[in-house]
Amino acid sequence: MKKYFPFFLLYKKALILAPLLVIIDVACEIVQPDLMSKIVDVGVGHKNLHYILQTGGLMLVLSIIAIAANVGNIYYSSHASVGFAAEVRKGLFKKIQEFSFSNLDKFSSASLTTRLTNDVNIVQEVIMMSLRLLIRAPLMLLFAVVIAVSINAQLALVIAVAIPVLGISMYIILHQGFPYFEQMQRRLDKVNAVVQENLVNVRVVKSFVREDFEKKKFGRTNDELREMAVKASGMVVMILPVMQLVMNISIVAIVWFGGNAIISGSFQVGQLMSFITYITQILMSLMMLSMTIMTFSRARASSDRILEILNTTVDIVDSPEAKEKDLLVQKGKVEFKNVSFKYHPDAEAYVLKDINLVVNAGETVAIIGATGAAKSTLVQLIPRLYDVSKGQVLIDDVDVRDYTLPNLRNNLKLVLQQNELFSGTIKQNLKWGNPQATDEEIISAAKDAQAHDFIITFPKGYETVLGQSGINVSGGQKQRICIARAILRKPAILILDDSTSAVDTATEARIRSSFSTHLKGTTTFIITQRLSSIKSADRIILLDDGAIIGSGSHDELLKSSPVYQEIYHSQQLVS
Ligand SMILES: Nc1ncnc2c1ncn2[C@@H]1O[C@H](COP(=O)(O)OP(=O)(O)O)[C@@H](O)[C@H]1O
Ligand SMILES: [Mg+2]
Repeated sequence: MKKYFPFFLLYKKALILAPLLVIIDVACEIVQPDLMSKIVDVGVGHKNLHYILQTGGLMLVLSIIAIAANVGNIYYSSHASVGFAAEVRKGLFKKIQEFSFSNLDKFSSASLTTRLTNDVNIVQEVIMMSLRLLIRAPLMLLFAVVIAVSINAQLALVIAVAIPVLGISMYIILHQGFPYFEQMQRRLDKVNAVVQENLVNVRVVKSFVREDFEKKKFGRTNDELREMAVKASGMVVMILPVMQLVMNISIVAIVWFGGNAIISGSFQVGQLMSFITYITQILMSLMMLSMTIMTFSRARASSDRILEILNTTVDIVDSPEAKEKDLLVQKGKVEFKNVSFKYHPDAEAYVLKDINLVVNAGETVAIIGATGAAKSTLVQLIPRLYDVSKGQVLIDDVDVRDYTLPNLRNNLKLVLQQNELFSGTIKQNLKWGNPQATDEEIISAAKDAQAHDFIITFPKGYETVLGQSGINVSGGQKQRICIARAILRKPAILILDDSTSAVDTATEARIRSSFSTHLKGTTTFIITQRLSSIKSADRIILLDDGAIIGSGSHDELLKSSPVYQEIYHSQQLVS
């Protein structure tokens, strides 16, 4: 909960004013029945028109004040709750941007989206409700009891019986209902997860013709939610009749005892009237209070889910020394020194085992190996997407952990196989990697990535809009735009992780040859399945099951490594 304070602090004015206005509203409202009874007993009773007008006027003024206070309270409550929600969303978003890859591995994107939208909305509603009711209900209850007792302490005994009866019934109903509400929230999560996962993968669903299966899956989770919602609301509908019963019995009792008192002359009609109003207010407040508490505990699940993100420790951050030194990546020499790595600290086997590798600045290294050999894992350690478990990764002889993340990553570009583009124009996407790039630089990078030729075939060229509101490019075209985006910065180190898999061999060869002339000084790592595209690399690293089992030129490896021979021959057959 401590994590919420900074967000609340931004709205302290609203948070103080909202309850204050509630107090004014309640104070004005609570004296109304009393004034009414005086009009009846004094004004009407003694036929005093002046008194009636005067007291009636006072009632009118108080109502206006109450209305104003109420409007003000609604204004400040919504201001505070909506503002709080916006701040929390901002906080969550910022936190998620800071997440390392291993942080991100723990949350699905569906669950992150639900937390940022649905859960924040629920908490927002609860804040709104508590700013309106959490103070109002107990205050009303307290005042009404005090006034009722002061009017007639003996009659107030009815209240003394009614409150515990209603209170205990509420407790029993809500206590029974709680598990249902908790279950309901959990099932709602499930429905959200199914919907979001389906939407993210809707194209896969369609291409596998699994719509019916998905519909059934959704139907099941939806039914489960409905079942629980029916059970939960079944408990809530009990509240109203119980409340009505307690209220009516109390009113009958008050009319009975009060009527007797009026007959014996110790009580007045107006007083009886106001007494009935007060007991209604008391029981209503009690109900409101229980409902608010119920909503509160329902929102706890959502709040917990929000706090889980805010409380996550980001595991890859800048060390104070790195900030102080503020080193920049200059040349781009990369060295792995006794590096071992596993994704989970408590996993038994290492994914990378004792890797030693020196890649000189400007060198082009190809990494090959079967799927799952840990090629991607290896290169992800260079920009610190994950931190090594043992050993060191050094760039220009400095541990990567001694650079700040921006300094490290600005001069080091990693292109993934499924790199995504954003909606917007092609030019905006290219500039996304380097906002200062000039048009000449953009075109030159696009040419090097063999993207220029197809871009200019679009009627709008570089201004072509991509994504939902525009055209969709093919997988190979997308990959080339991603490569152009990466080389626009002329990084010291460039890593292409299977990022030409959808590009034909001839185009890939052209990309390679323009790299060898235009990106001469850039240290380049190429991960690929195709031997044809790596023959020109300065060195080939053969990775198998997380270990380097061979290294050298194509010809050297062909002579010395049986695994390489096998890969070579298998590809000779297919090509
Ligand atoms: N985020 C992750 N969390 C846990 N295990 C992972 C993760 N990414 C990859 N792995 C595992 O690490 C091993 C190496 O994967 P990867 O580096 O992607 O192989 P390659 O790129 O050579 O195909 C695989 O066994 C894979 O299951
Ligand atoms: Mg991979």
